[in-house]
Formats: sequence, C-alpha cells, structure tokens
Amino acid sequence: VVPDAAWRDEVRRLAEQRNAVILAHNYQLPEIQDIADHTGDSLALSRIAADSAADVIVFCGVHFMAETAKILSPGKTVLIPDERAGCSLADSITAEQLRAWKAEHPGAVVVSYVNTTADVKAETDVCCTSSNAVDVVRSIPADRAVLFCPDQFLGAHVKRVTGRENLHIWAGECHVHAGINGPELAEKAAANPDADLFIHPECGCATSALYLAGEGTVPSERVRILSTGDMVKAARQTSSRSVLVATEVGMLHQLRRAAPEIDFRAVNDRASCRYMKMITPAALLRALREGRDEVHVDPGVAERARGAVRRMIAIGQ
Ligand code: 13P
Ligand code: SF4
Repeated sequence: VVPDAAWRDEVRRLAEQRNAVILAHNYQLPEIQDIADHTGDSLALSRIAADSAADVIVFCGVHFMAETAKILSPGKTVLIPDERAGCSLADSITAEQLRAWKAEHPGAVVVSYVNTTADVKAETDVCCTSSNAVDVVRSIPADRAVLFCPDQFLGAHVKRVTGRENLHIWAGECHVHAGINGPELAEKAAANPDADLFIHPECGCATSALYLAGEGTVPSERVRILSTGDMVKAARQTSSRSVLVATEVGMLHQLRRAAPEIDFRAVNDRASCRYMKMITPAALLRALREGRDEVHVDPGVAERARGAVRRMIAIGQ
C-alpha cells in the first residue's frame, strides 16, 4: 500500500462511514501522523479519547494506549491497526510483581506510568505520563511512601525534581530510550554548541543532560526535560536555530511541522520503536475496512483501572 492521495481518500471515507476518530502518537510514521484527526503525546490522546463523540476510536499507537482509551470509553469500539504493537516498558512489570511489591510496602501510594497493561493499572492508585508525573507525585501527601513504576529513568527524574526520599522506583526501562546514552549526548552537544537539548525523561541520558547543564557545558536554560507533547510546545517558543532531540525518531516529524525554520537533529538516529512502526498505511486501511484489531479489556479490570486513569487526566490540566 502506497500512502498516496487514493489511500488518503479511502482512509478518510472509511473513517467517516464508521464515525471513527483517528488518533496518532507522536512516534508514528509521518504518513500516519498526517492523516490522523489528532496527533499528540499519551496524555493528550487519552484526554481526546475520553471526550470524543465518535463511535469508533482508531488508535495508531501501541497496545497500552488503545487499552487506556477502552478503559475510559468502555461503550466505544476501540481499534488498533496491529495488536502486536506492544511496549518493552509496559512488559517490564506484571500485575503479580506489582502486588508482591505492594505487600512489601503496606500503605504506600502506587503511581504507574501510563505505559503499563490494564492489569497493572487495576493495581494502581494513580497513573501518570511523562508530562504530569511530577505533578502527580506532588499531589500525594509528603508523609506517604510512593511506589513508582515501571520506568527507572522517569522515576529518577521525578525524584530529583520533587526531592522526595520516600519514592521507591521500579527498575524497568524502554529499550529505545534507555539506548540513548550519556556519552552520545555529550558528543553531539559538543559538536553543536548552540543547540537546545530536548530530552525525554525516559532516556538513559537524562541525568547526563542535567550534568552537562550543571558543569556549564550547555547553558542550563537550554537543557529541557520534556514529554513529547511538551517538546512541540517548546519548539514553538525557543529562539534557538538548532535543537538536539533525545527520544524516538518519529518525534522529529511533528517538531519540523511545528517549527520548520529550526534544525532538529536526533541524538541517536537509530532510536526507532519497532512497535510504533507496526502501524503501517496498510494496517490502518485494514483496520477501517475490517474493524480490527478490536481492543477488549475485562470489564472488572477496566472498572478498577478507570479511577487511576481518571485521576491522571485530572492532574496537571
Ligand atoms: P509521551 O508521549 O507521554 O511523552 O510518551 C512517550 C512514550 O514513550 C510513549 O510510548
Ligand atoms: Fe514503549 Fe519505548 Fe516504544 Fe514508547 S518507545 S512504545 S516506551 S517501547
């Protein structure tokens, strides 16, 4: 399938016929981002899914995102163009492991990143995304211990910003972001001394970025730890002519659209998420034609997970 004008017309026609809204995460292929009704980060897309009047949500992203949409809108049909689109970070903790961890810390508040399965969300007090993780943790009384899972780099970032000693962090990671490392960032920053650094907090290099700022190698106001949605906002506001971007490379498309005059470069141009890229033009067309793959979440699990997801959506509005 070639993503040409005929493909675009057919996708739009079928979406209208099904009363479907097409949502695309910022890491999707450029042609998928361009055809979507809405493109954004995981928090923005969760909010849109919750508010949508469409009968069908076609989620161009990974499975936990489509599951989150289903948890919020159990009466809607939620489709993911390829259900094999998983997430190595979501796979780094199971509900059973979380229950065992909770048993070791009775009374602790569980904060789970939205990159988790519905079963893990059902064991969670409040979910967060990279854009509101700090606000979510700040909303918890200081004397309550917090169990933060599953991403160790986001957890370390939140701990650094909040200064919270009673925050326990699960040792999970995303294989794509963990691979964007400190030495690579330092080398690119030295070669591009005038560039801003936009760093996703899931990256292995997030601590190194702050170190570069701390030692004055890069002026601290140029080092920004941002969710993918906040990167787009920052791109519109910066006066820099060049930006080094540490996250999945699909992000560059949205950034270049937002600020065409800026030279955006990946810190690691091999940082591509194979799961995100399973959502191909052919898969999107098939989803709309055949109504698959439909996402199902056990109603009991969804019921228990819904409170945690709703609290996430309410915090950091
Ligand atoms: P955000 O879109 O919330 O920044 O998340 C990044 C991510 O890794 C999603 O898979
Ligand atoms: Fe999961 Fe990482 Fe892919 Fe995001 S980039 S979907 S966290 S594996």
